[in-house]
Amino acid sequence: MGPARAKVAERTFRRDRWWLSPLGIGLILLFFVVYSTIRYFMNDHYWAAEEHYLTPFYSPCISASCVPGSSHFGTPLPEIPAFIPIAIVTLIGVGGFRATCYYYRKAYYRSFFLSPTACAVPEPRGSYKGETRFPLIVQNSHRYFFYVAALFALINLYDAILALHGVNGGVGVGLGTVIIWGNLAMLAAYTLSCHACRHVVGGRLRNFGKHPVRYRFWTLVSKLNTRHGQFAMISLFTVIFTDFYIMAVAADWFSDPRIVN
Ligand code: FES
Repeated sequence: MGPARAKVAERTFRRDRWWLSPLGIGLILLFFVVYSTIRYFMNDHYWAAEEHYLTPFYSPCISASCVPGSSHFGTPLPEIPAFIPIAIVTLIGVGGFRATCYYYRKAYYRSFFLSPTACAVPEPRGSYKGETRFPLIVQNSHRYFFYVAALFALINLYDAILALHGVNGGVGVGLGTVIIWGNLAMLAAYTLSCHACRHVVGGRLRNFGKHPVRYRFWTLVSKLNTRHGQFAMISLFTVIFTDFYIMAVAADWFSDPRIVN
């Protein structure tokens, strides 16, 4: 048995403002959770009919309760009571992907659970069970949520193509179209830079030389992966901004400025 550890009365020897990052990120996440909860339970102002803008929060809208025109993939779900979000499928799919993301786990473990609070700052609890048992063992489902999120990203791509709709018919581009495509780019960067995606394209291979295409994808995803945390935060803001913009247009708070038609 090794020598006993020295008894140190100080909680931490860090003298910098180490609490700033977990506090700031915690406030951002709290804002996102509050905003999303309000929007998902609002069940309104998610489809701008004239411009063909559907907010990513409600995509795909597949319930018989969805407003006419917003269901691009039919309505396999029946009518949903007003107190349940119409976009319950999106809420679970996209919410599950973000909630189990490695980056967000680090962020909310630090900000909300104080586990660990920061580097070289011990957590308040005396024991640590990690993610080896219930409930946190469900975080291992992240690799499956990746496939769900990839499907949602394709659906968002379809929505973005439909947003190239002219208000007088034919093709058109409004400020909303630009915002939707910008958000799509950020969501794609966030999804493709996922650690599970990196494993899907390049994992379980003994020899990259025999798999040149997968090697190219793996190289690309690995480069994106180094910026995964940034994409996670940027896409959080772009998705909120896109949703807010479409809500404002759908609710007639203002008209979408048209660039082309
Ligand atoms: S690790 Fe963040 S989305 Fe997969």
